Amino acid sequence: MESFREPSIQAAADDAPAEDRALRPQRMDEMVGQRAVHERLSIAIDASRKRGETLGHILLDGPPGLGKTTFATCIPRELGTTLQIASGAALAAPKDLLPYLTNCSEGSVLFIDEIHRLPIAVEEFLYPAMEDFRIDITLGDGVAARTINMPLRPFTLVGATTRAGLISAPLRDRFVIREHLDYYSPAELAEIVRRSAVKLSMPMDDATADEIARRSRGTPRLANNRLRWIRDFSTSRAGDQISVEIARSALEMQGIDELGLDGFDRKYLETIQRVFAGGPVGIEAIAHTMSAAPDTLEDDVEPYLLRCELVIRTPRGRKITPKGEEHVGVMPKTPPQGRLF
Ligand SMILES: Nc1ncnc2c1ncn2[C@@H]1O[C@H](COP(=O)(O)OP(=O)(O)OP(=O)(O)O)[C@@H](O)[C@H]1O
Ligand SMILES: [Mg+2]
Repeated sequence: MESFREPSIQAAADDAPAEDRALRPQRMDEMVGQRAVHERLSIAIDASRKRGETLGHILLDGPPGLGKTTFATCIPRELGTTLQIASGAALAAPKDLLPYLTNCSEGSVLFIDEIHRLPIAVEEFLYPAMEDFRIDITLGDGVAARTINMPLRPFTLVGATTRAGLISAPLRDRFVIREHLDYYSPAELAEIVRRSAVKLSMPMDDATADEIARRSRGTPRLANNRLRWIRDFSTSRAGDQISVEIARSALEMQGIDELGLDGFDRKYLETIQRVFAGGPVGIEAIAHTMSAAPDTLEDDVEPYLLRCELVIRTPRGRKITPKGEEHVGVMPKTPPQGRLF
């Protein structure tokens, strides 16, 4: 759209490699899947345009790589407005947020990625900005301190998080629209693979697209990454040919199995199975054993394994399921004979 101006402040999303940006849908209609979310957001955007009102604040949550940033960058294009991008991790104090808020033009979008990482002081500074489009600035100290109110132009805050549970209730409640992005079906991922293959000028038949989709953990970012690896493999080893067998060989070389799990996912399952006798075991203990960060396991590894019912979460920790045991290739444990412990 002509009235769409380039983002005035760039960060997170544009740190993505150029090829990643090339595959990212530019308009909401180019996005595949997430139909219910897509429809609800389209209605809200349409209504705000028709009434000439500012769109309500939007919170998007869900595991990594499912399209939160993509939605956040498409929304201002649909509205024909500008976008500023900030990251919760980089906003250490209210003064860091100030330029973004004062730069907001009427009806523009401010996208805060990883919003669960905002320190409480910044969060509290954001409350009046979200609610009344006003900020309170305290000047001076002690008895001489005074607060001045500064009006802001009405804007739309779009927040994204992989950890909705870490967002405080007062912040969560200030978002009018809250949407959860879920994993994509194999058919939706296959469609994404076909579209990305066109953009990358790769030949792609339906059977190969289905195979890549099945091995992509329900995640568009992984589908695109796997596709690019298959393209490299094919150029280097298969004379630019693409087939189900070539795709399979390429993915197996990366340690990606038929469920789409990679070596790290399997190491997580194996750690619970082998080191902790199937669990239940706390996330910290698993993370220590794997020399990994608990956050990485909770954000990147567990959601999909839980979704596939390979592990379950119990009040006492993580436990592998019979399906998970089968997947790591270990027979279910035989019950102890004669001794209780
Ligand atoms: N609905 C979709 N249709 C087509 N492609 C998509 C869709 N959603 C995501 N993608 C592709 O997947 C890539 C990753 O998506 P995106 O960056 O929006 O994920 P994210 O949810 O913001 O992840 P993170 O939590 O890691 O920031 C995009 O660059 C885009 O190419
Ligand atoms: Mg993102």
